[in-house]
Amino acid sequence: MSQVQVSSESFAAVRRYSEAFCREHGEYPRCFVLTFGCQQNVADSEKLSGMAEQMGYVLTENPEEASLILVNTCAIREHAETKALSIVGQYKHLKEKNPELVIGVCGCMVAQEHRREQLKRSYPYVSFILGTSVLHRLPERLLRVLSERKRRFENAEECVIAEGVPITRESDYRAWVSIMYGCNNFCSYCIVPYVRGRERSREPADVIAEVKDLVARGYKDITLLGQNVNSYGKGREDGYDFADLLADLDAIEGDFLLRFMTSHPKDASKKLIDVMANGKHIARHFHLPLQSGSNDVLLRMNRRYDRARYLEILDYMREKMPDIAVTSDIIVGFPGESDADFEDTLSMLSRARFDMLFSFIYSPRKGTPAAVMEDQIPRAVQNARFDRLLAAQESIALSLNEPFVGKRIRVLCDGPSKTDAGMLSGRNSENKIVFFPDDGSKQGEFVEIEIDRAAPFALYGKRV
Ligand code: SAH
Ligand code: SF4
Ligand code: F3S
Repeated sequence: MSQVQVSSESFAAVRRYSEAFCREHGEYPRCFVLTFGCQQNVADSEKLSGMAEQMGYVLTENPEEASLILVNTCAIREHAETKALSIVGQYKHLKEKNPELVIGVCGCMVAQEHRREQLKRSYPYVSFILGTSVLHRLPERLLRVLSERKRRFENAEECVIAEGVPITRESDYRAWVSIMYGCNNFCSYCIVPYVRGRERSREPADVIAEVKDLVARGYKDITLLGQNVNSYGKGREDGYDFADLLADLDAIEGDFLLRFMTSHPKDASKKLIDVMANGKHIARHFHLPLQSGSNDVLLRMNRRYDRARYLEILDYMREKMPDIAVTSDIIVGFPGESDADFEDTLSMLSRARFDMLFSFIYSPRKGTPAAVMEDQIPRAVQNARFDRLLAAQESIALSLNEPFVGKRIRVLCDGPSKTDAGMLSGRNSENKIVFFPDDGSKQGEFVEIEIDRAAPFALYGKRV
C-alpha cells in the first residue's frame, strides 16, 4: 500500500492567507467543523480540525463567526444525507453576509457523483468538496480555492494511506485511532465500499507509535477503528493480523482500556477472542453486527455467514469471557424480508441476548444492489417490525443489566450528564452507561461505582 506524507508547503501557503487575514482583522480566521456519521467520521473530523489549526485557523463552535466551514457528511442512510444538505442550505445566509466565507463539504456523501452534481448545481455558496480518500489534501484544495477564487468539485479517488496528518482531538482522555480505511465487503445494502474505497491497513509500527503516545499523554480509553477490523493486515506477507496488533497494543504499559470497532462475523477469529480473553487492557465489549437473523436475508445481504456461524463465534466468546458484553446492529425491512424472516431475527435476539442493539430501518442507497431488488418493504410494515424489535430488545437488555445491582464496577467518568442535572455519567469496560450523583469526580478519571439500580439502557449507582 502506498503511503504518503502530508505536504508542509500547502500548509504554509494557506497559513500566509491566515496571517494576511490577521493583519487586516486583528485576529486569525476561524474554522467551524460539523460532523455527521460514525466514529470514523469523528476521527476524520479531528484531522480536518488538526489541519485547519496548522493552516492558521482558530477552531470555533459557532458557524456565524467562521471564515471556513467544513461539513463532514455521512451517506449511510437517506436521513443522514438530507440532514447534511439541509444544514448546508442554512449556511447560504452566512455566505450572503460574508462573501469571503469558504464552505467545504467533505466526507462520504460527496464521494457520490449525483451528490457532487447536486452540490455544484444547487448550492452555489459551497466552494469545494473533499472525499474521504483525499481528506489529507484539504490544504491543497483550500489553497486553490483561496488563490484562484474558483469553486472546486473534482473528486480524485486515491487509494493511499496518509501518515503525519495533524490531529486535534476532541477529548483528552478518550481517543479514536483509525487502523485501516475503506471496505471490500460490498454488503448489498451498504454505500460504504463505494464512498470509502478499497480496504487498506496502516503499518503496525505507525499504529503502535500512535497508541503509545496517547497512553503516555494520559488517554484512558482508546478505540481502534475500521469498517472491518478483522481484515486488518490482509495481504501482508508476514501474516501479521488484527489479533497480533491487538496483542502488541495490549502489551503497552499503563492504565487504559483498549476497544475496537467493527468486527464482521465472517472474519471474527478465535485467535482474536483468545487475545481478548488473555488481555490486560482490552475492554469486555464486542460489537458484532448481525444485520438479520434469517439465513435467506443474510445471503441476499451478501454477509457471507449464517446463523450457525454467528452463534459459533458468539458461544466461543462467552465461553472464554462469561462477562463479555455483546452489542449488535440489525436492519429491518430489507427487500424481500418476509414475516418468517423477521421472526427469525426475533428468535436470534432471544438466543444471542445482546446487551445493546442498534436497529435501523432499511434505507435504499443509490448504486447498491439492494436498492434495485424486488419486493421493497412498505414503510408501515418496516415501522411495525422496528417497534417490535425495540420492545423485544428492551426486556433483554434490562435482564442483562439487573445482575449489576449490588456490584462495584470501575467507570471512566465523562463529566456532567447531558440529561440529568446534578448527575455525572461514564462508561465501564462493557461500555454500559453509568449515572451517579455529582460528587466532584473529574472527567477522564476512573471511579469505583456501586450499582443500585438497572434500566434497559443504563446503570445507576454511587461512588464508593
Ligand atoms: N462496517 C460496519 C458498519 C458500518 S455502517 C459493519 O459491517 O458492521 C453501520 C450500520 O449501519 C450497519 O451495521 C448497518 O446495520 C447499518 N446500515 C448500513 N447500510 C444501511 C442501509 N442502507 N439502511 C439501513 N441501515 C444501514
Ligand atoms: Fe458496509 Fe458491509 Fe463494509 Fe460494513 S462490512 S461497511 S456493512 S459493506
Ligand atoms: Fe456514514 Fe461514512 Fe461512517 S457513510 S456511517 S460516515 S463510513
